[in-house]
Amino acid sequence: MHNVYEISPEIFWIGGNDRRIERFENMFPLPNGVAYNSYLILDDKTAIIDTVDSSISALYLENIKHVLGGRSLDYLIINHMEPDHCANIEEIARRYPGVKIVGNKKTFQFMEQYYSLDMSSNYLEVQEGSELNLGSHTLRFYLAPMVHWPEVMFTYEVQKGILFSADAFGSFGAMAGNLFADEVEYDNQFLDEARRYYANIVGRYGSQVQAVFRKLGNLPINMICSLHGLIWRGEDIAYIMGKYDLWSRYLPEKKGIVLVYASMYGNTENAMNALAAKLAQRGVKDMRMYDVSKTHPSYIISDIFKYSHIVLGSCTYNMNLYFPMDSLLREISVLGVKDRKVAVLGNHTWASAAVKCITELLGTMKGMELITAPLDIRSTLKAGQEEELNAVADAIYASLMESGEAQ
Ligand code: FEO
Repeated sequence: MHNVYEISPEIFWIGGNDRRIERFENMFPLPNGVAYNSYLILDDKTAIIDTVDSSISALYLENIKHVLGGRSLDYLIINHMEPDHCANIEEIARRYPGVKIVGNKKTFQFMEQYYSLDMSSNYLEVQEGSELNLGSHTLRFYLAPMVHWPEVMFTYEVQKGILFSADAFGSFGAMAGNLFADEVEYDNQFLDEARRYYANIVGRYGSQVQAVFRKLGNLPINMICSLHGLIWRGEDIAYIMGKYDLWSRYLPEKKGIVLVYASMYGNTENAMNALAAKLAQRGVKDMRMYDVSKTHPSYIISDIFKYSHIVLGSCTYNMNLYFPMDSLLREISVLGVKDRKVAVLGNHTWASAAVKCITELLGTMKGMELITAPLDIRSTLKAGQEEELNAVADAIYASLMESGEAQ
């Protein structure tokens, strides 16, 4: 049966949820599934804003049919051409052959790369600031390149102040009936997954997010409708914009420490546990510790966006860096994470490489400040090295007390 929701007069959510999917982009675990949002405006003219992933096509097409109630579809607006949103374009063009497909030059380039059906006679090309009048709803288009692909644009409904923001302000996690962020315990249920989504999917494009913020600066926005996750309205808009502002400037949300270790036989793990205990004894409260071989990097990266300090501990492997740690650091570098305070702990039995490799990789990132000289262990941390470990803990604690990041 159809499942739709009128989120504002004449504007309907017609999306759906997928809880069976294992991994987003075949890479990021989705323990709580994901939502694909799409919206239909019923005015003198009818318009859909973006489609959904192929996994929920059957429900989606039923939703469209139900809301249209026998009317034709006049416009299909494409804010984003990634397949988790564009998978139903061809089918809609077949069912509603008179539909005008609204996009920018890049939109149509990507459309032709993905599809073989010639839909060029349906194209309606728009530019920055173009407007489309549906009757009592006017839609204005703002280009938002690289949030998260180059063709991305935002659609702004002028009369109600509703921003259809493509991937921006979205989240991992399926929705359970409630569509608005103010209807759920957002911080408990969604915030970590929203951060993990941002950090891993949009994280590299912080400067482009900031550019769009500047462009939309004076626009009255009463509702934000993303392509994933909950809808924002009222005072919550400032809340999520505040988070995005921090994340896109790579500023930590909190003082705290993410400790990440790579350990084959538990000796590096033991050293990290000993260090964490010393930090706790000095009064540090907010710490997260991860085994890089066990936890998917997307969760670690999410916390690295959240916290001010990082401790990296790794054994040497094949006279190089232990591969999962190497992979994690390369990912962090590609995502453009910067300006964190870092401590490094290495371990080796017969050839020291971990410390050198970690510091080299940190050197590929901006503003990664080494708080103290790396501690390089030989196989196991000995009781006689306690003073060295105390010195590392003292340096991290002092840095944490000094730094002025938001609490
Ligand atoms: Fe949800 Fe960039 O696609």
